[in-house]
Parts: sequence; structure tokens; C-alpha cells
Amino acid sequence: MGGQGQTEAKELESLMAFWADAGVDASYADAPVNRLTAPRKALEVPARPVAVATALILARAAPFAADIGSAVEEARRAAGAATTLDELKEAIAAFDGCPLKFQGASQSVFARGNPEAPVMIIGEGPGADEDRLGEPFVGRAGKLLDKMLKAAGLEDRVFITNTVFWRPPGNRTPTLAEQAVCRPFLESAVFLIKPKLLLLVGGAASKSVLGADDGIMSLRGRWFEWSDAEKRLILPVLPTLHPAFLLRTPQAKKLAWFDILTFVERLDRPERVP
Ligand code: URA
Repeated sequence: MGGQGQTEAKELESLMAFWADAGVDASYADAPVNRLTAPRKALEVPARPVAVATALILARAAPFAADIGSAVEEARRAAGAATTLDELKEAIAAFDGCPLKFQGASQSVFARGNPEAPVMIIGEGPGADEDRLGEPFVGRAGKLLDKMLKAAGLEDRVFITNTVFWRPPGNRTPTLAEQAVCRPFLESAVFLIKPKLLLLVGGAASKSVLGADDGIMSLRGRWFEWSDAEKRLILPVLPTLHPAFLLRTPQAKKLAWFDILTFVERLDRPERVP
């Protein structure tokens, strides 16, 4: 590359670094825009009034919002047809009904862990590292989760997934509609694994899976019951704190550890013979 090309590449790298620092980590356009070739023009575009911007966002979301019922139906059909975890993973990757798939995610992120695990862990949704690597909980929060699981002797006894299978842009919390559309796949995963217990990590996963309004500080450490829509499978479920929260709030680690010990005690409690 010549001098001019190198300068452009440096400018581009610097611009990308600036955007990354500013938290811009998802692209919405169909094709890349070279902002270096027409910087003035780009700067001259007047800011949109809030009402217009909102209308544009709603217009973009409308096809999904109006169609959420049929997206859930389609998810049920696709998830119900999957008879193995590999088929379920493929069905998720092929599914176009979740708006998150078209908001900058680079791939679907299904699950990792032991397919015969007695424990299924459900988190909120993939972050940047998970989006890049295609597996849940592989970033900083995932490393902390793994440490806690290891300390509790659970590392080979878990199957880990999320309430949604595409990264929400900017790591925002997934909406209830996004979680609803992904839920049939999550339910199928529970059926295929048939774990003994479910562990929900964080407020978003706990509220979504339990249909609860309470905050995580009130839900955590308490046993609830999960069942599918037809009540064919009923499982004990324990919400706990999200490892990303623990990274920001280390003093809460003892609460999470208490929850994990509660969880392990029930997991290893001998079944009562009737
Ligand atoms: N946080 C989650 O809830 N899930 C992941 O997979 C990663 C981070």
C-alpha cells in the first residue's frame, strides 16, 4: 500500500477506535459507508427531530412488532421439529423471526456445556465476546461464572444458554418481545436436556423465565418452579446474581456464593423414596 493508502488506513483505524471508545459497536447499514471520502457532507446532514427519529425507529421495528405472534408461532414450529441439540442449534441459526438477528449480531449463539448435565444455566443474552466466538459466557463475566462453577464442583455438570440467541446492540437488555420470540427454542433446549434444576443468572433472565416483576435482589436465592406452557415438565429453579454485576459489585459475591451453595445442596440432596 502506498503513502496515501497508509494514511487513509491510519485515519480509518483512528476513527474506528474513536467509535469503539464511544460505545459504537454495531452497524445498521446494509453496506459500509466510507466517511473519509465525504466528511463535510456527512457533517452537514441536519440532526433529525426526536419525533422523526422515533418514527423511523418504530417503522423499522413495526414489521416485527406487528408480527410478533406469527414469529412466536414460527419459532414454536421450528423448535418443535428439532429432535437433537444439533438440530435445535441449526434451527436457531436459520430462524429469521427475532429482530436482534438484524441489529448487528454477527452470528447466533446457542449454548455450551454438557448435553447430559443435571443443571441448565440461563443467562440474559450474548455480549460482544460471545457474538464473536459463537458461544455463551466466554467473556469476562463468563470467566467469573466458570470460576464459581468450578469452586462449587459444577464445572462439568452444566449446560449454559441464554434467553436470546443474538447479541442485543450495545449490550442492552433484550426486550420482552425478543425474549418471547426466542422462548420456544429455550423451552426445546430444556426438554432435550431434561436437567434436574435450572439456575437463572441475572434479573433479565429471571424475570423473563419466571414471568416475575420483582427485581433480582428480591428473587435471588429463592426457589421457584418452572414449567413449559403445557406443564409437561416442571423443574425447581433458582435465580441468582449475574456475574457481570458481580464484577462491578464485588461485595455482592458473597450473596451469589450463598445462592450457589443453596443450589448445590438441592442438586446433591438424595431423592426421597416414596
Ligand atoms: N451475559 C449473559 O447473560 N450471557 C452471555 O452469554 C454473556 C454475558
